[in-house]
Amino acid sequence: MSTGLPGYPGEPWSRGVRRGEDGVVEVAGVGVHDLAAEHGTPAYVLDEADFRARARAYRTAFETAFRAVGSDVDVYYAGKALLTVAVARWAREEGLRVDTASGGELAVALRAGVPGPEIGLHGNNKSDAEIGRALDEGVGRIIVDSLVEVERVARLAGERGVVAPVMVRVTTGVHAGGHEYISTAHEDQKFGLSIAAPRPTDGSAAGDSPAMTALLDVVARPELHLLGIHSHIGSQILDPSGFEVAARAVLELRAELAARTGVLVDEVDIGGGYGIAYLPGEVALDPERVAKDVAAAVDAVAADLGTPLPRFSIEPGRAIVGPAGLTLYTVGTVKPVTLDDGRVRTYVSVDGGMSDNIRPALYAAQYHAEVVGRASEAEPVLARVVGKHCESGDIVVHEVQLPGDVRAGDLLAVPATGAYGRSMASNYNLLTRPPVVAVRDGESRVLVRRETVEDLLALDEG
Ligand code: LLP
Repeated sequence: MSTGLPGYPGEPWSRGVRRGEDGVVEVAGVGVHDLAAEHGTPAYVLDEADFRARARAYRTAFETAFRAVGSDVDVYYAGKALLTVAVARWAREEGLRVDTASGGELAVALRAGVPGPEIGLHGNNKSDAEIGRALDEGVGRIIVDSLVEVERVARLAGERGVVAPVMVRVTTGVHAGGHEYISTAHEDQKFGLSIAAPRPTDGSAAGDSPAMTALLDVVARPELHLLGIHSHIGSQILDPSGFEVAARAVLELRAELAARTGVLVDEVDIGGGYGIAYLPGEVALDPERVAKDVAAAVDAVAADLGTPLPRFSIEPGRAIVGPAGLTLYTVGTVKPVTLDDGRVRTYVSVDGGMSDNIRPALYAAQYHAEVVGRASEAEPVLARVVGKHCESGDIVVHEVQLPGDVRAGDLLAVPATGAYGRSMASNYNLLTRPPVVAVRDGESRVLVRRETVEDLLALDEG
């Protein structure tokens, strides 16, 4: 992938970021002071060209690798990472489809003009209303997550006189995230149907796995068309081997289903989870490498099994939008604290916090931060960036070196907040959620406006 404009500081910053000689950072040609003056802080700033480049990079890498083994790929942008009407349009313009996980995400994708057949609907507990809307809009695939849901989707399709296109979400025992994957025989999680057969304790023969039971059930129902099998193994994955192991297991299940029913499903989805860099020096998963590795693995398995390769699909969210976004804050207070070991930690409070980025509090996620509105010659100090919430766990960046003269009024940016920042934002302490501002070619525009106190009061019936 390209490395950004001249002066690009490198990952985890989006490729339109550069720091001028005066120390002021700009994103896609728009200076941070202009962004703050026009849109206020805190603000989520999205680099449109960076988003588009990553969407293209994933599509090209996977298409190239899978076409080379005689298969093909559809890339679904996982809207849970961040979905706005404009973002859904960018994804579509770059040749991606859209994966949704609720009626709300589905509504935004439809509002963006994404055609129903290019949308997928996920969820482990979809409501009748969500499934009904998906069927009415001709959504291309409903990913069923349980036996109850097979029955539910069949009933709702039957009521409408339509045949629902479904995939069955299976769990392969592969769980990945962070730097490694683990493979276990049993499943202790709410998602999907396990491919592991139950192990009876009374000595009787093992029955069908929940996954096989669901697949047989779908095949038997005239209201359902079995498109394929779906597997999602985790998130923020930096080791691609988990994808290969899971894809193999899914292809074996597909071959077994074909042997038993004569139905060889057309499609296999290997989910999302492609990891990104959050800190300087971290290396993101390379889409070309993972695409090549997985394509080679599935090609070998299909040859072993004697079945032709299906069409594949993937669902990256974070890898497309995460690095494209940063959060711009204004520093409000600075408080040096002397620790027991004699070190000094400087608490830098910004005008947002855990309501605009819950990930540090929820997952102990690590982020980076820099003062972006000016140059500084001051010696760096050990700093902790915190928010303005009434909670001591309200941490934005646990540990980062900031210039020793960091002060009230400074603009501070946290990179790689494009994914799961706005989409997991809350109104804790009744803070209003920041706007999502897109920048491109020297211009900024608001994609989602800042919430106001009037918005909050409007929901309160008194
Ligand atoms: N497909 C399915 C079925 C998923 O469950 C997910 C994420 C994705 C795709 C997209 O995964 P991605 O490529 O964005 O990693 N809130 C957490 C992440 C939860 C992800 C849940 N599922 C976080 O902030 O790290």
